[in-house]
This record gives sequence, structure tokens and C-alpha cells, in this order.
Amino acid sequence: MLRRLHPDQPDTFAFTSDNQAWAEGQMTKYPEGRQASAIIPLLWRAQEQEGWLSRPAIEHVAAMLGLSYIRALEVATFYFMFQLQPVGAIAHIQVCGTTSCMICGAEDLVAVCKDKIAPNAHELSADGNFSWEEVECLGSCSNAPMAQIGKDYYEDLTAERMGEIIDELAAGKVPVPGPQNGRYAAEPLKGLTSLKQHDSGKTQYNASVQLAVDIGDTVKRIDGTEVPLLMPWQGKPANASGKPAKDARPAEGAPTDRTGVTEQQATETSKAKPPSKADPGPGEKPQALSAARDSGADDLKKIKGVGPKLEKLLNTMGFYHFDQIAAWTEKEVAWVDENLEGFKGRVTRDNWVAQARSLAEGAST
Ligand code: FES
Repeated sequence: MLRRLHPDQPDTFAFTSDNQAWAEGQMTKYPEGRQASAIIPLLWRAQEQEGWLSRPAIEHVAAMLGLSYIRALEVATFYFMFQLQPVGAIAHIQVCGTTSCMICGAEDLVAVCKDKIAPNAHELSADGNFSWEEVECLGSCSNAPMAQIGKDYYEDLTAERMGEIIDELAAGKVPVPGPQNGRYAAEPLKGLTSLKQHDSGKTQYNASVQLAVDIGDTVKRIDGTEVPLLMPWQGKPANASGKPAKDARPAEGAPTDRTGVTEQQATETSKAKPPSKADPGPGEKPQALSAARDSGADDLKKIKGVGPKLEKLLNTMGFYHFDQIAAWTEKEVAWVDENLEGFKGRVTRDNWVAQARSLAEGAST
């Protein structure tokens, strides 16, 4: 399926302050420079807040993580769990259409959605309050057919009950999730046949349903006030004010990974500086030139993997000619790899030395 951004986009996106604090807390789960690993939870929280992922939301998350927008867009468009178009203001209904549900009546549930909401999946109802889609197995096969509405599962559904649930939601009610045919959980329809001794002391509903009933809402958008802002991986709450400590943020400009292109890389290389002499890193610095020879600099962009920004950076570091690069030793490669700000590791990854050797001999790469 082709997944594209919706043609109508809001101008801006911002997390609520609690969601922003939550998102910044999530980023501290990962080692310095690896904050991009938080991409899915942050996109997910943006969707939980808004109902769907707009372009400004994707860009906002990318900026928080120091990622180029395209990287975040790739994730958002790859995973079907991300809604790329507005969903119903009250609820988006996800009907499971996989085997168990299909043979137990999923098509009837879809028919109800088509009738009551909109003829096509991902289309808003006339009042904008509902939308629906068919999804793959949601792991509740023993309670087929079922649908996820908001955060909760509605199981053991019939077409009639599906219609009633939509009507109840439209009337502002909160239908009790879980099995809709009287079952407690996923036990046999005729009742428990074993482990009956555990029947006493149980809550009115099964654990997930009880939690949903206690919260009293299944379709509320998440604004960050719902759960305590804890960072157990740091062994402490966020901080006294409920916000993560400032130093919990990743370093600005830290590359996402050894070879990936980050937003910082795109902007930082335009102001590329020679490596700091104070911390030259491993290896040995190759001999550099203060300027290109009289014959003029070689077109280093002929080396595959070297673009205009990298060429400029190399020139800034004193490298202008193929034969210079062709002569780099292993230790010198290590030094350059380490000191290519924003492009670390590219010399080895793209085998510049061998390429430069060919180019210096007049061959092509
Ligand atoms: S087949 Fe529907 S939940 Fe698994």
C-alpha cells in the first residue's frame, strides 16, 4: 500500500508540556549519540496526542532527535500503526480481519463500519467523529471477532454489538471493553474447566478491562498527565518538578550513528572546521597541504561517497588531490575517519584509498 502524507496538514505541532517532558525522558534511555532509537516511542506519543501523525509532528520529533526529516518520515511511512491521515475525533476503529476473526464474522463488523462510519477505510464519517480500518491480527484470536477502539479491545463482537458500541461512543458514553458476550476473559464459553480455585477474589472484570473501567475512558487522547513521569532506568523520578533534568537531553549536534546522515550533518558541514588539535583521536594525521597545487585541486567528488560537503571538508583539512588520499596508511585512515566531523567512518566504509588510487592512475571508480 502506498503510504503518503495527507494533503491537508496543520501548520505546526507541539507536544503538551507533559508529553514533551515524557518524550525527553524517553530519550535518556539510550546512550549518548543514540537518541534516534527513541523515534518510535516519540512518534507514537505524538500520534496518541493528536490521533494521527502530521508532517509538522514528524518534523518536530526528527528535530528533537537530531535526525534529518527524511529519516523520521521513513519510519512513519513504513509502519502501518502510524496513521498518516486525520482519524475520527471520537474514535478510530481497527477491526481485525485476520483468520480467526474473519471466520468468526469480521466481515460483518466491517460492513457495520462501512454503513455507520464511511464506505472506505481511513475515511472520516460525515460528522468527522469516526473512522475505521481493517488491521492484521491483534493477538486476541480466542475472542474473535474483535476490534481495537482507542486503547482497548472490544472482543467477542457481533455486528449488532459493534453498531451499539459506535452509537454509545457517539452519545459520549464509554462502552465497557473486553468480551461482549459475557465471558470474563478467554476462558471456554461454557465456563472454567480447570484452575477454578483461582475464581475467588477476582475483580469484576479481567485485569485489562478493569484498568480501562477504572480509568473511565478508552478513547481519550494522551496528554501526558495520565501516568507518573518516571524514569526507572535512572532509578528516580524525572525530578522534583516532574520534568526530566536538563542534562538528560542528548548533546546537541551529536551524530545519530557512525555513518548515518543527521540534520546536524547537513548543517554542520557547511561550517566545517578542521579537527581540534586538542583531541585528535586515534591514528596519525596524514600530511596535509595548505592549498591545492598549481595544477588545481582534483574533483574529489569522483570518489564514490564524497559529495560537495565532504569535498569542502576535506579541502578544509588540507586534502585536495587523489594521490594524497591514495597514500594514506591504515593509521592515517583511522585518523581521518575519526576526524571527519559528521561523516565519521566514511573513508573505510567507502574505501576511499582504493578509489583514489584508481583515480590517481587515470582510471575511474
Ligand atoms: S485473528 Fe483477530 S485477533 Fe487474531
